[in-house]
Amino acid sequence: MTDPIYKTDALIAEDIDAYLIQHQHKSLLRFITCGSVDDGKSTLIGRLLYDSKMIFEDQLAALEADSKRVGTQGQEIDFALLVDGLAAEREQGITIDVAYRFFSTENRKFIVADTPGHEQYTRNMVTGASTADLAVILIDARKGILTQTRRHSYLAHLIGIRNIVLAVNKMDLVDYSQSVFDQIVADYTAFAEGIGITAFTPLPISGFKGDNITAPSANTPWYSGPTLMAHLETVEVDVTADQAKPFRMPVQWVNRPNLDFRGFSGLIASGTIKPGDAVRVLPSGKTSTVSKIVTMDGELDAAIAGQSVTLCFADEVDCSRGDVIAIAENPPQVADQFEATIVWMDDDAMHVGRSYWLKLGTQMVSATVQAPKYTVNVNTMEHLAAKTLELNAIGVAEIATDKPIVFEPYADNHTLGGLILIDKITNRTVAAGMLNFSLRRAQNVHWQATDIGREEHARLKNQTPRVLWFTGLSGSGKSTIANEVEKSLNLMNRHTFLLDGDNVRHGLNKDLGFTEADRIENIRRVGEMAKLMADAGLIVLTAFISPFRAERELVRSLLPEGEFIEIFVDTPLEVAEARDVKGLYKKARSGALKNFTGIDSPYEPPEHPEIRVNTVEMTPVEAAEHIIRKIMPLK
Ligand code: ADX
Repeated sequence: MTDPIYKTDALIAEDIDAYLIQHQHKSLLRFITCGSVDDGKSTLIGRLLYDSKMIFEDQLAALEADSKRVGTQGQEIDFALLVDGLAAEREQGITIDVAYRFFSTENRKFIVADTPGHEQYTRNMVTGASTADLAVILIDARKGILTQTRRHSYLAHLIGIRNIVLAVNKMDLVDYSQSVFDQIVADYTAFAEGIGITAFTPLPISGFKGDNITAPSANTPWYSGPTLMAHLETVEVDVTADQAKPFRMPVQWVNRPNLDFRGFSGLIASGTIKPGDAVRVLPSGKTSTVSKIVTMDGELDAAIAGQSVTLCFADEVDCSRGDVIAIAENPPQVADQFEATIVWMDDDAMHVGRSYWLKLGTQMVSATVQAPKYTVNVNTMEHLAAKTLELNAIGVAEIATDKPIVFEPYADNHTLGGLILIDKITNRTVAAGMLNFSLRRAQNVHWQATDIGREEHARLKNQTPRVLWFTGLSGSGKSTIANEVEKSLNLMNRHTFLLDGDNVRHGLNKDLGFTEADRIENIRRVGEMAKLMADAGLIVLTAFISPFRAERELVRSLLPEGEFIEIFVDTPLEVAEARDVKGLYKKARSGALKNFTGIDSPYEPPEHPEIRVNTVEMTPVEAAEHIIRKIMPLK
């Protein structure tokens, strides 16, 4: 071990802060290793760590303790403490199975994302790749290019990694044969050109034996290129590219310690900024001038992409978390409909039309995805027709958000063009996406303000609007009970309207069947209609199976707090089936009716309904009385 490295080593253990400061001047390369299960990925990473003399498993204990104290990942080790470069990723909120290893040489520091190769690999790889500058695509020299190689390369390219290393590993097992190496390189060149990879660096290596890892190998005299480490140490990382782009900073939080100070904090995604620059806050479009740039280390004359700063403005301008501050004369776009490339990462396939959380930088909105235009077969690059996106599928689809978001095409700006989708019920990250462009049609439709609003409508009817949302299995008694409730309300001079599943499916929704996507659309339309009727001042009763929690929650979110009342008509399947009022259960059991709720299509019971009625113990009239009592006093 050489002296300086030894000192650094010791410093990590003693004083991680001092260590980090010492390393700050070095450039950072973030890379990802991609390989199939047996390609020797771990061996290679271990070899890099070992040969850089920087294995610090022991020292990790210090970091671990630190993470627990100040980290953001709970009990996990927070590698983000090591370098602020990880801030963007934390902001994205993807926390999964990617191990980050940190090592350093005299010339550069490295973060390698090691993504496990099991069936969730797409998810892991996308996460690891989202912040990587370089990808090492590992190939087993004995096997050549595999489906996984194509897939990893395609994903790496899609995510925007421009430095690709083709590491042909296990050269020792093919007798260091030049012809084997040349053939693999030729095969890969042909494939790479097809997907738009114009340059890559091929290397013959053995992670196990150490050939061409840190020292040129005598076993490959025919190879005159750099070693893997030499390449990693010298490859140019275009850190200036982001700085040359127009200024954008997503606002993470409003810094207001006292009445005299108000600043907007965030990580600069692109460009540079200095006091006196005219800026625009989006989506509002309001403008101001930067008065000062504040950091932990004092005020700055200028700040650049990659720095975390607090900006103060010359005027009082509304600006909050999720807004984007941009250079005034060249702001990003604002839109609510897009074409996006989506990588689906959840076991549960995409639900067309379902409302997911969409997170883009610091913005969080509700979004629905349409049926894919196509999916991509990564082996052949063919475009395939598809109804949805399954686990690991890559497809192109239209996305609509409930509010306009500030964005740029992913190709121009990864921060403002890269998104994740989160399931609203399970809170799982289900997809990563890249915005390609906005769809113009949204831009010409505006919200029309009217003078007579929901308050006026409600006042005239002398009541508070409500949506009484009945949900339960077919034959549970929703329509019967809803009908009884409406009769009682009618006697009380309430203005009501009952929307019933069977009836609506004869008119407005006669184009819909009973597939999952159709049920989602059925409830979305009914929800919108119920909302309009509530806006008109009515007490709306709906009787739909509405089998999915997500869509019931969507309707709840459309209405003011307290106006949506979920009523679970709790009838066990056996009871509903025994009643079989419409004879549909019989048909479903015989196979004559497909996708029947409770038989071969799921029903997700409410977890916290406002009201639950047990139709085994209560008659419909008793159930209705129970509901009326619960919703009284009903103004
Ligand atoms: S929902 O699932 O989309 O909410 P909705 O309440 O509109 O369903 O319609 C359910 C009614 O359609 C049932 O009461 C039944 O009369 C009829 N129906 C016909 N086919 C099916 C089916 N496959 N599954 C459930 N209900 C069906």
